[in-house]
Amino acid sequence: MTKKLIVGNWKMNGSLDDAKRLIADILNTIYGMPETLEKCDFLVCPPFIHIPAVRHAITTVDTVVFGGQDCSASTNGAYTGDVSAEMLKDSKCSYVIAGHSERRKNHGESDETVAQKVRNIHAAGMIAIVCVGETEAQRDQGQQESVVAQQLSKSLPDCTTLENTVIAYEPVWAIGTGKTPTMDAIQAMHAFIRKALAGQVQGGEQMRVLYGGSVDPANAGEILACKDVDGCLIGGASLKAESYIAIAQAA
Ligand code: PGA
Repeated sequence: MTKKLIVGNWKMNGSLDDAKRLIADILNTIYGMPETLEKCDFLVCPPFIHIPAVRHAITTVDTVVFGGQDCSASTNGAYTGDVSAEMLKDSKCSYVIAGHSERRKNHGESDETVAQKVRNIHAAGMIAIVCVGETEAQRDQGQQESVVAQQLSKSLPDCTTLENTVIAYEPVWAIGTGKTPTMDAIQAMHAFIRKALAGQVQGGEQMRVLYGGSVDPANAGEILACKDVDGCLIGGASLKAESYIAIAQAA
């Protein structure tokens, strides 16, 4: 059985002290849980500016890894405010999220932009977590599969391999809303994604596919029990060590 990947996406939350406290709480709690560590891999994605503090806290253990929430589609130069994949690699990140729906919506990122970011993440030697998912209107019209299929085909560059990429299925309407699809709908979409990946990437049917969108300790057990769910991408509930770890324990 492959380990479940439990990703905490801290988004734009918390002071430097909050970040230090959160990572310390996570590490302290996880230490006492050999069984959970056997079943789960842990990844936290702090705001860029808190990455050095998280890195510092983690240096002596390799049970938790950390990554970026985004990176630039460019490699270097006059891009005020941007952070490159290479810089994240230099800061010892091992993963970077690309194409989160908040980036696609708030920053107008197209599938082509996402693909360029993924290329940069791979070129820097890191693993890309590529987010896909339909809006509520698209689901109401029964378009969820065609929307996700299109995102997968356009957001994954040719350099995508089983080893360097993870997919996160995040229905836009489930993010931060407390709403989740039914377990049948989650499983059906994950199976659909796996099939699409098989046609696109060598060995793609074995790629890790995470679920994200209002995952909490109460629903994590049944979500993680879905056959094709290999972990989850957690926003709100990852901001407290207690709920973040409880989600992993539910695996
Ligand atoms: P949420 O966010 O868990 O707060 O719904 C998930 C995400 O955006 O990755």
